[in-house]
Amino acid sequence: MSDFRFAVITVSTSGYRGQRPDLSGPLIASMLAPLGTVIESLLIPDDEERIKAELIRLADKFLIDAVFTTGGTGLSPDDRTPEATLAAADRAAPGISEAMRMKSIEITPRAMLSRGAAVIRGKTLIVNLPGSPKACEENLSVFLPVLSHAISTIRGEGSHNESHTYK
Ligand code: MTE
Repeated sequence: MSDFRFAVITVSTSGYRGQRPDLSGPLIASMLAPLGTVIESLLIPDDEERIKAELIRLADKFLIDAVFTTGGTGLSPDDRTPEATLAAADRAAPGISEAMRMKSIEITPRAMLSRGAAVIRGKTLIVNLPGSPKACEENLSVFLPVLSHAISTIRGEGSHNESHTYK
């Protein structure tokens, strides 16, 4: 069984102020639980510098395999999660977000309004999910079957030959 190290960041100014409960962070954590341990769960406001600083801290100091954010991916002026994520990135992994949006658009056309990104910093994968629990569940379900392979590949495990037998 894999024992990956995860972190979950809920980005929500109203959640941070205690004006609404954070249902999405715990939901993501429960979906990740079979694959490893959630080392840290955070609830922070829609503050680009704060989001970026937390992503960098988790990737560089805590050697997290994958950080999932929820919220702040839409079009409203306060939505800054993708900008913070790209600012923390070494490399982009756009296929992850493309796949999640592609599947999500079959559920709701509003899925095209999520600007969520997926990137790599060092050996840490960072994936933005939208804010609602429903959207988190639907988006993460698309990526979850590939998560283990993604982390192994980022770690440099497995040969190129093996990747040719990819299922
Ligand atoms: N994706 C899925 N699968 N299901 C959804 O209900 N909601 C969309 C979209 N992605 C949704 C979805 C909506 S309504 C918005 S506004 C965007 O995610 C951005 O959400 P965020 O601003 O909370 O991050």
